[in-house]
Amino acid sequence: MNLVSILDLNKADILSYLDLAAQFKATPPKELLKNKLITLAFFEPSTRTRLSFEAAALRLGAKVMGFTDAKATSLAKGESLSDTVRVLGSYSDAVIIRHPNEGAARLAAEQVDTPIINAGDGANQHPSQTLLDLFTIRELFGKLEGLSLALVGDLKYGRTIHSLVEAASLFDMRLYFVAADGLTLPHHLTERLKMRGVKFSFHRTVADVMSKTDVLYLTRLQKERLTTAVPEYHSIDLDLLNDAKPHLKIMHPLPRQEELPPEIDATPHAAYFEQAKNGVVVRQAILVKALGVQA
Ligand code: NCD
Repeated sequence: MNLVSILDLNKADILSYLDLAAQFKATPPKELLKNKLITLAFFEPSTRTRLSFEAAALRLGAKVMGFTDAKATSLAKGESLSDTVRVLGSYSDAVIIRHPNEGAARLAAEQVDTPIINAGDGANQHPSQTLLDLFTIRELFGKLEGLSLALVGDLKYGRTIHSLVEAASLFDMRLYFVAADGLTLPHHLTERLKMRGVKFSFHRTVADVMSKTDVLYLTRLQKERLTTAVPEYHSIDLDLLNDAKPHLKIMHPLPRQEELPPEIDATPHAAYFEQAKNGVVVRQAILVKALGVQA
């Protein structure tokens, strides 16, 4: 089974990933993927996504191989992504792919029957991140329905935002978008939110939404995808948190930059390291389901 886009999943599908991850967190699974070989094809930089997939695979008893730099592969000789994926698919039981082009994982999935897992395709989608984000929110609040989420920062190029927004619309979440001009949510996404009847609004400052929000989801500026200069970027500080609900949780897919200063780490609001830690159990669930193994 592939995991290419959050849009391919319905609510029940999403919950089945979260439930399996919760089961694995409560009771570490046995070597369910013994004798499986998993390829990590990373054409873009990564720390957490790659290493939490690797940790997940190794802890499930699988073997992993792969590359972390496209320059070390035959793509540098001009080989097409389709050819590379066809061959990798024939070597292994699943291929996890991160690529700078939007639609790369979809293209890969069309080439092979081997399960393809999208670890980020350009500014498009990052479904495994969204599953771990939802897992973390459900763990923190005991529910997903009825919460308010403020999404802050680079809403234009942030693929974690794009996947999370799609998923949030399945769970009756209230969305606040805080972004500078030039970094607002792409039009096709706001159109879909309207079609689905999601409540959302646009804001100029974090202070505007602080007192109303349950989850403050920050993102870094995706400098590598920017085509124009950006005049301003939103960051938070301890003073801004004076207005926060006591149970506010701050999340961030990491890596962070100035938007999330380390002074926030010691507050009870900081949830981003637990969020990153949850990456392993959630990716264990993704691998087990991708490979069709009974847990
Ligand atoms: C994100 C990504 O790669 O899109 N990182 C991650 O997977 N945790 C966010 C980012 O790079 O800003």
